[in-house]
Amino acid sequence: MGQWHDVASVKDLSLRKKKAVEVDGTPVALFWVGGKVYALNDICVHEERRLSKGTLLFGKVICPGHQWKFDPETGEPDDQDGCQPTYAVRVSDDGAIAVSLDPADKTELSGLVPA
Ligand code: FES
Repeated sequence: MGQWHDVASVKDLSLRKKKAVEVDGTPVALFWVGGKVYALNDICVHEERRLSKGTLLFGKVICPGHQWKFDPETGEPDDQDGCQPTYAVRVSDDGAIAVSLDPADKTELSGLVPA
């Protein structure tokens, strides 16, 4: 069991579908895509722009720097080298969002928003 940190609520993401937070000093970008909340490191692996200032398009996170398209689940960019770190997300029944930097906390249910 890792270290879970309460960082936001689903309500915080309802309008813009994204939010910048910090977990233990690590900048994290939250994105709400297709019924799940994803957490990626907010600093782009390419040239360090903030992913949280980017957009979502067809389920991909688009970096505002040079428009690399990241898979929010894996952090893999389309047609580019490098991988954006992703983190475990837990969404409670009351909509509270918690993030863990511990890879052991990432499961297939990670980030699922309760119906
Ligand atoms: S800084 Fe993100 S694509 Fe270049």
